[in-house]
Amino acid sequence: MADQQARPGEDKRPSEIPVIRWEEPPEGPVLILLDQTRLPSEEVELVCTDASALMEAIRALAVRGAPVLGIAGAYGVALAAARGFDVDEAAEALESARPTAVNLSVGVRRALAAYRDALTTTGDPTAAATAALAAAQALHREDAEASARMAAHGLALLDELMPGGGHRVLTHCNTGALVSGGEGTAFAVALAAHRAGRLRRLWVDETRPLLQGARLTAWEAARRGMAYTLLTDSAAGSLFAAGEVDAVLIGADRIAADGSVANKVGSYPLAVLARYHHVPFIVVAPVTTIDPDTPDGASIEVEQRPGFEVTEILTPQASAVGGGGGVPLAPLGTQAYNPAFDVTPPELVTAIVTEEGAVSPVTPQALAALSARARAT
Ligand code: MRU
Repeated sequence: MADQQARPGEDKRPSEIPVIRWEEPPEGPVLILLDQTRLPSEEVELVCTDASALMEAIRALAVRGAPVLGIAGAYGVALAAARGFDVDEAAEALESARPTAVNLSVGVRRALAAYRDALTTTGDPTAAATAALAAAQALHREDAEASARMAAHGLALLDELMPGGGHRVLTHCNTGALVSGGEGTAFAVALAAHRAGRLRRLWVDETRPLLQGARLTAWEAARRGMAYTLLTDSAAGSLFAAGEVDAVLIGADRIAADGSVANKVGSYPLAVLARYHHVPFIVVAPVTTIDPDTPDGASIEVEQRPGFEVTEILTPQASAVGGGGGVPLAPLGTQAYNPAFDVTPPELVTAIVTEEGAVSPVTPQALAALSARARAT
């Protein structure tokens, strides 16, 4: 068990993590990503000059996590427009790069709508490209603001559920600054608790097979000086049984209208454990992750990833080339079941925290009211 001691008040590198940015060098506009497949060993940037390079980066998980996928998708449309590519074709390709995170299509569609509106009004492709970029930048800014508000609402909820502080929080996958224009979703709540001196421990699931917890959440927690401990996913049960978990905080890739939550595979077993041990299971996500067009959990498309992610340990170099070539863990030819996500039914979710506030209990009516409130503001 890797163990990191608390260093209260210390936030070594509070400056923003440069996850995604737009630049306009003389050769033409580019989208620059921090390549998350290379973390934590190397901080390497990936420069996308067109939407198809971005699509590859999304598929390889160089950029990943629901909110930032939306931001990336919007910038991808802007990039195609600015570089004079077929914008509709680029938007369609980007939207289909990963099927589960609804934010990706929300971001792509928002930039595409801005592009089309401007083209209709002005007839000028340059003005339309500028409008698409403005839409992407607005989404980027709004996500940062939403992140701060989710953190505040989430911390208030933790304090309400567990007066007295000293929260011991278990999290899964990576939901911090790497997935966001701000400080993230579930991780941002834990960070707010840390800054308030009320986080006793962040338990970090390693998150097999691609180790987003070990590689990315532990990296972010270390940068922030948080007290965190890494565990294998299968150790979570004994941690609950030992009474060491006060709350589970996770993000979401899509929340159906009935409150079913799709998130990184391994989230559902945590929800079952949490219910058995009477521990709150809290989902933190922006309102854009709630999808009124997906009625229930069974209607959520769960991305199936290649088997080699399970049968091999991927080195950063192997991940960067996009498949296979890692260190074998199983006999050659072994088949693997590798869904990227699972779905937690609403009855196992204690609360959904958004920038508009928390919903608890989770009902279709409460979620619809929340989305309507968000649309009105
Ligand atoms: O496959 P990934 O790494 O993109 O999966 C990400 C997650 O499951 C996150 O928990 C989710 O996107 C929420 S991020 C706020």
